[in-house]
Amino acid sequence: MDKKLNPLNSIEDWEDDLLKRYPENPSEKKEEDFRDYKNSKRAESVKEFYKLNHQYQSYDFVCHKEATFLQFNQRKMSLWDALEFLNTLVDDSDPDIELDQLQHLLQTSEAIRADNHPDWFVLTGLLHDIGKVLCLFGEPQWAVVGDTFPVGCSFSKSIVHSEYFSLNPDSSNPTYQNKFGIYKENCGLDNVKMSWGHDEYLYQIVKDYLPKEALYMIRYHSFYSQHKEHAYNHLMDNTDIKMFEWVRKFNAYDLYSKAPVPPDSKALRPYYEDLVSKYLPDTLSF
Ligand SMILES: [Fe+2]
Ligand SMILES: [Fe+2]
Repeated sequence: MDKKLNPLNSIEDWEDDLLKRYPENPSEKKEEDFRDYKNSKRAESVKEFYKLNHQYQSYDFVCHKEATFLQFNQRKMSLWDALEFLNTLVDDSDPDIELDQLQHLLQTSEAIRADNHPDWFVLTGLLHDIGKVLCLFGEPQWAVVGDTFPVGCSFSKSIVHSEYFSLNPDSSNPTYQNKFGIYKENCGLDNVKMSWGHDEYLYQIVKDYLPKEALYMIRYHSFYSQHKEHAYNHLMDNTDIKMFEWVRKFNAYDLYSKAPVPPDSKALRPYYEDLVSKYLPDTLSF
């Protein structure tokens, strides 16, 4: 893998970095851990990753990726095939330490199930990261994972490493460089283009099959500058505000459901086969 284009050893390093930014119990965070982390090579690679992400995720870039991938002519797969395919994503990280993609998805869904949430919420846990198959279609890390944010209007200072947006061509386009950009106040997020990645891609694949709440969780689960920092309230309508309660609820399971014992995917499969067939068709077009 070209390190210049793909600086992260593993796409999981982005998620680990989120845990540093948004720890489950901020008060328990040790000062030494933080310093240690700051000096680590991984912190450097995460920075490099955001630099590429912020430099290249422009309005035109998003339009171009939508035109390519929203034709859904990459592959036809059942959800199970997609999960297995996603698990072939090998990266340079130590396989003994990192959980594979399926385990992260099952841990998320099992934690949601354990709290007796509706079955579509459990299903959302299982499938929310399947859009990461974009990596297997040859897309670079910065066009698959990372915090997402609106394009076509000014970049919020609360987006992580916002200093790198100075490298983005949209930063010198006056149309885009005010609070509302090409949008109207409170126009609703459905009218707002987000940076391209696994969230929007999967939303577009499953949008006809799941309840609205689930679709919000899938589409905006990496939009941290909104669900953690409330930076884009001015573009949201009342439905968005209500639905983001679900996005936040989901986010806690996505970030903090790492269990010490990995879930037994074989034993769980019958339950999830029934659940998947309740909501999704036999094959999905990617
Ligand atoms: Fe994700
Ligand atoms: Fe996730």
